[in-house]
Formats: sequence, structure tokens, C-alpha cells
Amino acid sequence: MARIMDGRRLAEEIKEKVKADVEKLRQSGIDVGLALLEVGDISASRQYYLATLKACKRVGITAYQYNLSGDVSTNEILNVVHEINSDARINGLLVLFPLPKRVNSRRVVNEILPEKDVDGLGSISVGRLAADESTFQIFKEGHYDQIYDGRQIPAISSYLPCTPFGVIRLLEHHNIKIKGKHAVVIGKSLAVGKPLSLMLLAKEATVTVCHKATPDMGYFTKQADILCTATGVSSLIKGDMVKESAVVVDIGINVLEDGRIVGDVDYEAVKEKASFITPVPGGVVPVTIAMLIENTVRSAQRDEFLKNPFMVG
Ligand SMILES: NC(=O)c1ccc[n+]([C@@H]2O[C@H](COP(=O)([O-])OP(=O)(O)OC[C@H]3O[C@@H](n4cnc5c(N)ncnc54)[C@H](OP(=O)(O)O)[C@@H]3O)[C@@H](O)[C@H]2O)c1
Repeated sequence: MARIMDGRRLAEEIKEKVKADVEKLRQSGIDVGLALLEVGDISASRQYYLATLKACKRVGITAYQYNLSGDVSTNEILNVVHEINSDARINGLLVLFPLPKRVNSRRVVNEILPEKDVDGLGSISVGRLAADESTFQIFKEGHYDQIYDGRQIPAISSYLPCTPFGVIRLLEHHNIKIKGKHAVVIGKSLAVGKPLSLMLLAKEATVTVCHKATPDMGYFTKQADILCTATGVSSLIKGDMVKESAVVVDIGINVLEDGRIVGDVDYEAVKEKASFITPVPGGVVPVTIAMLIENTVRSAQRDEFLKNPFMVG
């Protein structure tokens, strides 16, 4: 029977630390700000939007809400991004997806200054992750603590995408060894699967990435010491697709017809075989939000440090 990886508890711990950092900055006269940019009425991301607002309030980060109408032009969205880029009160920008189909999402995301790209999805942030220039942030040994006490702050030139960053933090929190393990990631999106595979690779796992065109996916999943799935397909991962004692991280979010929220994994069957498993809800999502606000406070600390190295640390 698997041990449950409780994301809510870890998220609370992270938020407590962020709250202390926010308070420390406030004592130096700095308010930490996060902008949320929503275009049209996006029911798919409403819960995430509301949960992020709640988390900001909990830790003392000021949320700046930009709710644009669904028929706004791409240029108008870019203007808002520029406005946020040059607003000294705002340390990070979260763009809620999906944007309307006619808007080129990549163009919008790439317009965010890397130092405010706290969702880590701009091409510079993704490139720095791929080039191992930002992965020091996922190493607990000797790094988390140094980041917390300010010594690593100047080295952060870009932020890690929040969901895969949260997955790594969940694994580390439960002392799950990644180095030398076979990690199988299902899904190759830019927001989740791809950056997660890069992070697992940076931590020296042997990584296999599966997607829609992967034939006989069970062949690969059965070899996984660590199995991470992010597809949005409920019950994709059945009990017989998982190795005995595997660590299973379910990133998927699926709303069933009866209103229940489930992941990609057949939870009841898989929890009998796995050594660790994330629940849905209550697994990865709370940690994702915690990482977003942690990235935001790091951005504020870095900004403050670079302008006045004697104030932080
Ligand atoms: N927990 C969190 O904090 C969090 C954050 C973001 C997203 N999510 C959830 O995670 C899921 C994925 O999100 P996303 O943004 O990555 O979605 P996405 O952009 O739609 O990507 C889904 C990925 O899953 C693959 N896939 C879909 N069906 C598959 C199948 N039957 N077999 C194998 N692979 C399959 C797709 O393969 P192809 O590339 O071949 O099409 C694609 O790479 C969603 O449920 C989303 O709600 C959770």
C-alpha cells in the first residue's frame, strides 16, 4: 500500500517560508507583487486563478488582476505585458491559459521579461533550464538553504516552470532518490512533460518520455521507478501498467461528468502497488501554486539584492 505524497502539507511549509521572506522585504520598504493576466472568461483556469489569489493573500503578496475581454487584440495584450514589465510594484506575471485561439500564446509569453517570468514558460527560461543554467534551484543539497538565506539570489537569472518544479520538490520532500533511477514521463507539453523530463535528467535519472504516438506505453511504464503522468486522460494508467513499489506522480486534472476531479491514474488499483503516490486533488496542484509564489518572492529578493546588495541576506 502506497504512502500518500500530501501536496497540501508541503505547500503550507513553502508558503510559511515565503510569508517570512515577504515580511522581511516589507520591513525594507518593498511590497511583493504578482500580476495575473486573464483574457476572456476561462472556466478551465478559474480554480487555479482563485487558488493563486488566495495563496497571495495568505503570504502577503499583492495581486494585480488584469482581466481583459475575450475579443481584445494581440497588440493590446502585448501592451498590457509591457505595462507590467515596467511596473516596479510587480515582480512576476502569470498568464492564465488558454488564451483565445486567435492569439499566439508564445508571442505573449515571450514578451514577459525573463526576470518577471515566474511561471518559467518563456523561451529564455526554457532555454536556461535546458542549458542547465537554472537547474541549481532543484538541488536540495547545499542550494535550497543558500537560496533561502539570500546567497544564491543573484545567480537566479530565470525561474523554473512551477508544475515540474513542484513535482521535484514533492519527490525531494519525501526523500525519494532520483539519481540513477528510471523516470518515465507521460506527456511532452512545454508546461509540464518537457520541462519535467529536463529536470529529472538534470538530477541524473534515466528519462523516457511517452506521448500519444508511443506504441505500447505499458512496456515503458512498467519499467519506471518513478512514473509521472500529465496527459489529461482519466484512467490512462491502470494497475497492471505500474511496477511494484514504483513512485507514481499524477499531474493530470480531469473533471468527470459527475463533477469529481481525478488524475490520469486509476488511483485505487495503483496505490496497492506503488510505494508512493500523489492524490488528485491535493497532490501536485497545491505545490504548483506554492512554487509560483516562491518564484515571485525570489524575483522580488533578486531585484532588491541587485539594487541594494546590503538589504537582503
Ligand atoms: N497539477 C498541476 O499543477 C497541473 C498543471 C498544469 C497542467 N495540469 C494538468 O496536466 C494535464 C496535462 O497538461 P498539459 O498542459 O501538459 O496538457 P497538454 O498540453 O494537452 O499536453 C498533454 C500531453 O499528454 C500527451 N497525451 C495525451 N493523451 C495521451 C495518451 N492517450 N497517451 C499518451 N500521451 C498522451 C500529449 O501527447 P502529444 O504531445 O503526442 O499530443 C501531450 O504531450 C492536464 O490534465 C492538466 O489539467 C496540471
